Amino acid sequence: MKTQPVAQPFSPRSSQLEAHLVQRYRRWQSWDRFAYKHIKGARLVAILEETGGAARRGVEIGVGPGGVASVVSGSVGRLVGLDLSPDALVTASAHCAGLPVSLVRASGFVLPFATSSLDLVYCSQVLHLFTNATRFALMREVARVLRPDGRFVFDMKNRVAHPLQYLRASSRKRAIVYPTPVEVLTLLEASGFGEVHVFPGLLPRCRWIRMPNVALFRRLAHTRFYVARPAALRR
Ligand SMILES: C[S@@+](CC[C@H](N)C(=O)[O-])C[C@H]1O[C@@H](n2cnc3c(N)ncnc32)[C@H](O)[C@@H]1O
Repeated sequence: MKTQPVAQPFSPRSSQLEAHLVQRYRRWQSWDRFAYKHIKGARLVAILEETGGAARRGVEIGVGPGGVASVVSGSVGRLVGLDLSPDALVTASAHCAGLPVSLVRASGFVLPFATSSLDLVYCSQVLHLFTNATRFALMREVARVLRPDGRFVFDMKNRVAHPLQYLRASSRKRAIVYPTPVEVLTLLEASGFGEVHVFPGLLPRCRWIRMPNVALFRRLAHTRFYVARPAALRR
């Protein structure tokens, strides 16, 4: 497993944001709570199974220390984990040692992949870092690299499961971390996705990997997973 250099230059505006994010996640270097990430990875795998099964070629944007990728790699023929933070990639490299995961330093806004070349792009705890405008930019880039039958899977925090954090947050932070499901669906549609299904993530204090996709669980889960497929006539 090799960590490769940044594949493409960043635009000046996104590089500022990216420098900020790399700094913000420096503290994740020694982050050692893999148990939760392994359960989350297993939940993601269950959702993949419910929506079409394993993928041949997949990418995780914002792989971080690799906890989710280490589990999802069992369901993807070739998995590439991308991150901006070299430190996160070093941790991921150790955590995913021996698994079929390649690690690349690159930005989710400028994916180093050809148009229509991937079956799966997923993120865990990444899209809540951005504004709606930057989420839109990332979704457009994901739509570009996905094959017409590919899937984009990502989670968003659920404000119902985080009432104190939500109430304490400034209006700017609320807009970044807790976009409404309608906003997320609108962004997906505008960036070229058609069919979207929403699934509950993990329930608080509960390690259920498989659970019925019912409204009560979607309301209570820490996060909601969105599974989006490119719109048929997007090009
Ligand atoms: C909250 S961590 C999540 C890590 C991992 N997905 C997980 O669930 O354990 C967010 C990660 O996204 C990375 N990141 C932030 N912005 C990014 C971007 N534009 N492109 C690639 N990675 C990014 C950060 O460096 C950080 O490692």
